[in-house]
Amino acid sequence: MAISEDFKQELKRRTNIADIIGNYVKLKKSGRNLMGKCPFHGDDTPSFSVSPEMGLYHCFGCNESGDVIQFVRKIEHLDYMEAVRWLAQKAGLTVPETNNDNKMHHLRQRIFEANREAARFYVRQLYTPEGKEALAYLTKRQLLPKTITHFGLGYSPKSRFELVNYLRSKGFSGTELIQANLANQSQNGNPYDRFSDRIMFPIIDLQRRVLGFGGRIMSNNKPKYLNTSETPVFNKGENLYALQFAKNKANGQLILVEGYMDVIALHQAGFENAVATLGTALTQEQALIIKRYCEEVVICYDADEAGQRATARAIGILRPLGINIKILTVPNGKDPDEFMKSHGEQGPARFRMLLNNSGNDIDYRLTKLRSGYHLDITQQRVEFLTKACELLSQLDNSIERDIYISKLAEELGVEKAAIKEQTQQSIRTRQRRTEKDRQRSMQRSLTVSPEGFSGTEPFNLRVASAEDALISLLMAHPDVAVSVFPTLSPTLFPTAFHRMVYELLRDRAAQGYNFTFTDISDKLSADERNRLGKLLMSHSYEENPTAAAKDYIDILQEESEKLSPQQIAEADDNTLLEEMRKLRSKKQ
Ligand code: CTP
Ligand code: MN
Repeated sequence: MAISEDFKQELKRRTNIADIIGNYVKLKKSGRNLMGKCPFHGDDTPSFSVSPEMGLYHCFGCNESGDVIQFVRKIEHLDYMEAVRWLAQKAGLTVPETNNDNKMHHLRQRIFEANREAARFYVRQLYTPEGKEALAYLTKRQLLPKTITHFGLGYSPKSRFELVNYLRSKGFSGTELIQANLANQSQNGNPYDRFSDRIMFPIIDLQRRVLGFGGRIMSNNKPKYLNTSETPVFNKGENLYALQFAKNKANGQLILVEGYMDVIALHQAGFENAVATLGTALTQEQALIIKRYCEEVVICYDADEAGQRATARAIGILRPLGINIKILTVPNGKDPDEFMKSHGEQGPARFRMLLNNSGNDIDYRLTKLRSGYHLDITQQRVEFLTKACELLSQLDNSIERDIYISKLAEELGVEKAAIKEQTQQSIRTRQRRTEKDRQRSMQRSLTVSPEGFSGTEPFNLRVASAEDALISLLMAHPDVAVSVFPTLSPTLFPTAFHRMVYELLRDRAAQGYNFTFTDISDKLSADERNRLGKLLMSHSYEENPTAAAKDYIDILQEESEKLSPQQIAEADDNTLLEEMRKLRSKKQ
């Protein structure tokens, strides 16, 4: 790593993890820690815990731990050095530049710059004689000049070398252009333009950086869209098209559509809260981003079969995050862009009506469910109703539930009370199941998990608890730790993980560095970090740490002298006699 240990220490001293995380998560004081809802998974109950003292966060739901740098990396999608710089800027520090500065950071910066230059180049091309046809195409698709400018749309010229030559003249190397995926590599190794004769849609992130491009062909040839593939700065599953505009207009609601053109047509019509995925199905990552900016999503996918499948999939990802979902189906199999186009001036008002009338996903799922049954056959009607009650039992709001129950009762000619009773039954079953899950997961977190124990390390609850408690104590009470380090041998920890952490702490202390969680977390793998984070968050501070440390060490000492079941089975008579003598002398 390029930055010095001293700078890292300084940065961490000047940074309050609770302040930083507090900008993204509503945190409430809970003892010495703070609790909130985890921003990295769909969290209904606050299971995200922050310890300002240890510089640590841990989520008991998704089992992720980290320090402030890891948090910023994850939430802002930055690499390590970018996160350090980001935090340094907030703390009013300048990151000392060293000769061997992080290569990846440099490459990413170069790619961002190349992309920005390329985007400007494509825009200029649109207004040259060569771009005439492209501009006419956009106009024919009813985009206004100011919309074209707003979205930074451009045109990639036919020649396969124009962009490459231009960017080379600006000082970019062929390798950089290939790594940015602005160029492909020919057989003899030379770069040539990846995009040619296409309408260019720049994809821009929340920091206004150009991540990559989508390029649409103007004819009916294939592929219709060519997109930037994965690069060091671009991951399709982590970004949403037009989120940089939509997030400011969301006002609690985002409209999720399929295509770039749909987004643009909707924004032009005044629906500036529309976003789209980038040519792939909705990912968990994108859903979590969406959750950060709204409480309600209107899914407005194509009415064709693929669109319906994508809708079902998106519901499956969004619903568990507690996002309210509405489904808007554009009539006559059109997509939002075609809808706007076909209705001219009336488009926006008509779309507003569709939006206001769009049902929530329960509506959608009931309709879908219903289409699978012949309701005039009694048996099928019963089956449908049972399934429908199961669906309704997922609604938290009893008023909303009641509305659907009335509707169903009326439509199917069944007593409302009967449907209500069946729904209540479903709710009870669900609650029992959740309660069981809860108890099971409680039990799991109470018993020390034997993960990390190899076959030769006997799993012993007493030892495992003592190991956990001792590590946690040493990290929370450095004064006790430094008095213990000189005499406590790492071999007293039977688990490899604890032994490794202990050695790390001891080495740090020997070098004169701090050894709280945040000081050592860079030295751990993600799994180790999560395991340590959980361990630390599960232990409270000791009233009398010196005495407690002695107790734990005694336990480890005592247990280490015991023979394992395997050893007992294989022991010869003399060893057993010796062992019994030891036990007798201890009792006296
Ligand atoms: N897409 C893609 N590659 C393709 C086709 C589609 O990446 N070969 C992605 C694009 O992000 C596109 C979205 O899927 O915006 C939706 O595709 P489609 O509905 O076919 O395109 P539209 O956006 O509606 O474009 P147009 O209206 O110009 O046909
Ligand atoms: Mn379309």
